[in-house]
Amino acid sequence: MFEKLQKKWKVNGWQLLAILCTFAIGGSLTGIVGRKILQQLPELHPLGWTLLYIITMTLIWPLMVVLVSIPFGQFPFFKNYLLRIFQKMTNTPSSTPPSSIPPSSIPPSSIPPSSIPPFSLAIFASGTGSNAQKIIEHFRNHPSIRVALVVSNKATAGVLDKAVAAGIPTLLIEKERFFRGDGFVAELTNHGIDFIVLAGFLWKVPPSLIQAYPSRMINIHPALLPKYGGKGMYGNFVHEAVIAAGEKESGITIHYVDEQYDHGGTIFQATCPVFPEDTPEALANRIHELEHQHFPAVIESVILSKLVKNQSS
Ligand code: GRF
Repeated sequence: MFEKLQKKWKVNGWQLLAILCTFAIGGSLTGIVGRKILQQLPELHPLGWTLLYIITMTLIWPLMVVLVSIPFGQFPFFKNYLLRIFQKMTNTPSSTPPSSIPPSSIPPSSIPPSSIPPFSLAIFASGTGSNAQKIIEHFRNHPSIRVALVVSNKATAGVLDKAVAAGIPTLLIEKERFFRGDGFVAELTNHGIDFIVLAGFLWKVPPSLIQAYPSRMINIHPALLPKYGGKGMYGNFVHEAVIAAGEKESGITIHYVDEQYDHGGTIFQATCPVFPEDTPEALANRIHELEHQHFPAVIESVILSKLVKNQSS
């Protein structure tokens, strides 16, 4: 039963526990507060009292669960949950827009998410996975997009722990089959993957995989491409090069993946200053903030615009 709930609500075990606690405590508080309010009322006909009881409880319950959800860190879940109940009751389609969308995107309000089939994405990462974490959080209760798989080439990569903690399946890939075999396309297909996001994935993507996901694979690079990209340009090597060149500005580039390193069409860029006293680590922190701020929303925007195109063609 718990597994079914986890799947239905797309949450991990800890989040499910927090949600169930919120329901239990919120429900008890509703009873206590509701009774206190009703005790203040004058004697009523039993039918009138029952009606008033139902109305009071219906109004107090959402308020109580929302209040209790805050200390449990589940406010976003309950906000969406109550919104969905309200939409079902009033029979209106959901119009919750993605939290922040880059300027180039299609207005999401034009897309009724309830009419879109679920869209599965895989995150490929080789490192700690702070971007992967933000992406997982962003899509946790999304009506039409879900993170269905986290792929890594490194058994000790922190991103795998983050995926496990979030209840997301993982796939560890090995070199020979990735580069000289089928690029693990069969596994991705088995997981129903529609779209691939590279978030700090250090291996070059082989043609077999690029051909299986044409224009459906994007990467984030921690500099303003076309400068400071290409083979060997990753992590602090990028920031060291930017600082050594005396750049006043750096930033992030989100782009489609093609068969060359850091080369496919640019989707989005954002900039930040580079200060004379910057160390590569200080610049890396500033860049990471930019990435966390923009990457999930850009992914959402790209996918939603593809879904709109699919629907209208
Ligand atoms: C990011 O800076 C990204 O731009 C680059 O790899 C880094 C991954 O960082 N491609 P994290 O593992 O997501 O923290």
